[in-house]
Amino acid sequence: MAVGLLTEGINEVIATTDHNAAPMGIINRNGSLHMVLFRGSHTARNIARDRRVVANFVFDPVIYVKTAFGDLPFDAFVSEDIDGTAVFRLRDAEAWAAFAADVERSGDESIVVRLSPLKEEVLGLRLHPVNRGFASIVEATVHATRYVRNRDPWLGRLIEHHSGLARKCGGAREREALELLEGYIADLTRE
Ligand SMILES: Cc1cc2nc3c(=O)[nH]c(=O)nc-3n(C[C@H](O)[C@H](O)[C@H](O)COP(=O)(O)O)c2cc1C
Repeated sequence: MAVGLLTEGINEVIATTDHNAAPMGIINRNGSLHMVLFRGSHTARNIARDRRVVANFVFDPVIYVKTAFGDLPFDAFVSEDIDGTAVFRLRDAEAWAAFAADVERSGDESIVVRLSPLKEEVLGLRLHPVNRGFASIVEATVHATRYVRNRDPWLGRLIEHHSGLARKCGGAREREALELLEGYIADLTRE
């Protein structure tokens, strides 16, 4: 069942907390919304502190790579007022949804937060034809966030596979995202 703008299953959004952005999954099952956040991320830290998160709906592969491994400039964010509290969303999102976030479980490696919708807005919709190049950048980036930590060769092979698909099926923006991703992987695996 859809909940507002979120589809059933896992929604791979760009989560903004304060002036931080990162790709994160929002799990929508049986009408309830959760995030599983691995400890150590800025997002996990900010959510535990602020109890708020904004899901940004973005279809730019470069933003997925940049926010997974780096930061966006301050002017990429704009504030929204929700009942007197400021939350920050991405300026160029096509839509956004703000949530109250309560830590439901706290483990050694991750925390589980439950989300309650506060407000959502569609800013500018575009049609996005299904494109395996974009999907492959999302896949390669997920694997890369893990690969740079454990250098698991199987993840390395998956990244190669998805990079090949992004090259074959994507456009200029996917190729730019791929170049960025390759740079981050090279830098982080050299460290
Ligand atoms: C599509 C995608 C989905 C992701 N989903 C999650 C998630 O649900 N939970 C999580 O802890 N990390 C997830 N990650 C990894 C984080 O984005 C990554 O650890 C990032 O560096 C965190 O950035 P931050 O420190 O600015 O919060 C995901 C990455 C991608 C590319």
